[in-house]
Amino acid sequence: MTESKKILLIVSGGIAAFKALELIRLLRAKDYGVTCVLTRAGAQFVTPLSLQALSEQKVYSELFSLTDESEMGHIQLSRSADLLVVAPASADILAKMAAGLADDLASTLLLATDKPVLVAPAMNVRMWQHPATQANLATLTVRGVHVVGPDEGAMACHEFGPGRLSEPQAILAAIEALLTGGKKPLTGRHAIVTSGPTHEPIDPVRYIANRSSGKQGHAIAAALAALGARVTLVSGPVSQPEPPGVAIRRVETAREMLQACEAALPADVFVGAAAVADWRMAAEATEKIKKKPGAAPPALTLTLNPDILATIGQIKKNRPRLVIGFAAETDNLLANAAAKRTSKGCDWIVANDVSPATGIMGGDENAIHLVTATGTEDWPRLHKEEVARRLAARIVEEFQK
Ligand code: PMT
Repeated sequence: MTESKKILLIVSGGIAAFKALELIRLLRAKDYGVTCVLTRAGAQFVTPLSLQALSEQKVYSELFSLTDESEMGHIQLSRSADLLVVAPASADILAKMAAGLADDLASTLLLATDKPVLVAPAMNVRMWQHPATQANLATLTVRGVHVVGPDEGAMACHEFGPGRLSEPQAILAAIEALLTGGKKPLTGRHAIVTSGPTHEPIDPVRYIANRSSGKQGHAIAAALAALGARVTLVSGPVSQPEPPGVAIRRVETAREMLQACEAALPADVFVGAAAVADWRMAAEATEKIKKKPGAAPPALTLTLNPDILATIGQIKKNRPRLVIGFAAETDNLLANAAAKRTSKGCDWIVANDVSPATGIMGGDENAIHLVTATGTEDWPRLHKEEVARRLAARIVEEFQK
């Protein structure tokens, strides 16, 4: 886990200071230790009490405080963290940093530290664009200070342009990138993802298929690749664009899909999002089945397809550490999903209700329940890309255990 990583968060003045509260919440949710320093101007916008309640740590603001100095000198405070983050960073604090001023606790810590520093500027658009601010920022960047944002948009001062504090999620991502030395959390991991339907031929022109579009599986492949995983995407026939940075294996039938998955092993994680046909023709006709006047419709005799998820979940050699299946159900969703998790030997099952009214199969959104050995998480209805990002984040957590 990330428990050992400590962040010294300096909250300077500005209307965006309230976003620091959400940043602390996100950092604590990921087990980062957060100690806050509040500048005099920052204290006009957020209270020490709210910072303390969220960070669960004492909040520092005075440079010449006898109590603080006897507990932990300011030099020690600036060096006991793994990273110093200034969010929001006002034009004033950036100017102090560039000039090397040390006239309050925040600027003194920033001057005394030997740790990396990340600033998230936030200010009025004219202040941001002023040559003085830009020169200060250039000086700081040359000295190795890292910068996230600012974003562009409507501002509290009724002006529009660059100057808005980056969203807390973006600041968190910048923090994590710095703490991992730019290394993405799934670097070095191999993921196999299946996606889309399979087509099971009846004769040379007809086939058995289903309504899967591949949107969910492809989004999962893209999300895992974005986190640094090497991804093999085994896809049935779909019209989705190829996600960047993944190796794609295009297949038609369940048997081809199984073969491609086995050939891609070993892997650290397997995600079976494909809607694999359970059955295929017992004997595929080699010529187009003819419609004969007066004759009864042909009886299609089916046989069972191999179960890819069950095969990978129960494989003796090279079983991926994490095998994740999906359960597409139209009734008894959770009970059927839990039964599939055990019968197919997988670690997690992502249950989704594919009744036509949900519009999930083929649609852009999904509402899933993540069934694991320890319980079930009910996720809200989300865009399939967001489901994929959250699932990828849960996979990261699992590998960090
Ligand atoms: O493609 P989209 O339009 O974005 O829709 C996404 C989805 C609804 C298809 C997806 O979220 C989903 O639910 N995929 C699994 C569909 C399915 O086949 O569910 P199932 O309950 O029939 O199968 C359970 C699991 O076994 C699945 O992981 C499936 O990939 C796997 N399986 C099933 C049969 C088989 N022969 N081999 C398998 O590996």
